[in-house]
Amino acid sequence: MGHGRSGMASMSSSDAEAVSVKELTGPRSGEPDQRFTLIAEKKTVTLKSGAAIEAWTYNGQLPGPELRVRQGDLVEVKLINKDIEEGVTIHWHGQDVPNAEDGVAGVTQDSVMPGQTYTYRFIARQVGSYWYHSHQQSSEQVKRGLFGTLIVLPKEGLEPGIEDITVMDPTYRKADGSEVNLLSPIDHRIVKAGTPVRLRLFNTGNWPKNVSITGVPFKVAAIDGTDINEPAELTNRRLVLAAGGRYDVAFTMPDKPVYVSTDPSSGMLLSADGKGSVPEAKTDSVFDPLTYGSPLKTLFDATSQFDRNFTMVFDNKLGFYDGGFERLFTINGEVFPNTPMLMVKEGDLVKTTFVNRSLVPHPMHLHGHHMLVLSRNGKPSTGSPWWVDTLNVDPGESYVVAFKADNPGLWMDHCHNLEHAAIGMTLHLSYE
Ligand code: C2O
Ligand code: CU
Repeated sequence: MGHGRSGMASMSSSDAEAVSVKELTGPRSGEPDQRFTLIAEKKTVTLKSGAAIEAWTYNGQLPGPELRVRQGDLVEVKLINKDIEEGVTIHWHGQDVPNAEDGVAGVTQDSVMPGQTYTYRFIARQVGSYWYHSHQQSSEQVKRGLFGTLIVLPKEGLEPGIEDITVMDPTYRKADGSEVNLLSPIDHRIVKAGTPVRLRLFNTGNWPKNVSITGVPFKVAAIDGTDINEPAELTNRRLVLAAGGRYDVAFTMPDKPVYVSTDPSSGMLLSADGKGSVPEAKTDSVFDPLTYGSPLKTLFDATSQFDRNFTMVFDNKLGFYDGGFERLFTINGEVFPNTPMLMVKEGDLVKTTFVNRSLVPHPMHLHGHHMLVLSRNGKPSTGSPWWVDTLNVDPGESYVVAFKADNPGLWMDHCHNLEHAAIGMTLHLSYE
């Protein structure tokens, strides 16, 4: 894959300079509450299965280290690129940071080349489960291992005694293109009966991920970091995570094993002694956030006056992109950089309609802002406010979402099937 294939980095730096990034940074001075160093380096990593893989890592780990901070913390992360020739960055997926801290190569910063460093500083404003990944040729680099989780705890911490478990189940792409799962078939965790459990489910892959939880009723506590208002208890429900998306699930550990299936062949078994057998999975119905939980007043809703209305129609066509002939995924008939630029003014209320006329799902990810889902296929959202940073739009579906333009800068809005983004399924949101 040639360098120009990135699509994510094809805006020239002179275009990026048109944005007054300097006023749009995180706090440049002040002692950070949390300080991390992430070294991007090539590393041979041995999996639990015994297989050795040539990974691209942060700090030699696959996935990278979990960063845990508290709400309101000034977070400083020093990125050092040791030897990734293509350059790297760090994007804080789902955490709405100031534009200059967003980590998009060619848009908010230059790619950090071997021997170079870059320091990100931002206030962790939003509590919840987020992740970070390189945003330089991300379709390649994320699959090679340049990602990890970012957990923002409430100021006062979590309730005492809670078992806080991250479930990632990522795959790694080998040089020959084949993929290996990084979990051993079943990962065992010891959790005593009666313990409150919070499972943080991440989908860092390119396609929707099915997760089922058997052996205990549970609640979906948060989606993409935002708490659900009054979540009801669910049994044998299948969760479908958008590519890039996160669900937090809560339950009390029963006196028998609980199984979290993340893949037909892998998952996590929670039990009191680290043993036990996998409970039989029931045929699950799919969890639907559109009607889950109770409504809550929000700053804006479907009845608001919107300042802007955008429609994005996804389709596919055969065509040339960056020297290759392939099936392209288009937005309003175009691929990047001919896709529309969304122009807003600070303070605007923006309504966006997604229509998927193509044959595959497209998980749309907007940087720097959270979108409130208003309706799907004309059916209004009647549950808890459903806020997302990454929304899966299945073939044939249409969604109406809304966001407030409250974070000035030049932002990416793209499909988080990163291979689609790399062949042009990308556009920019820009402030006038
Ligand atoms: Cu998680 Cu633009 O990416
Ligand atoms: Cu897509």
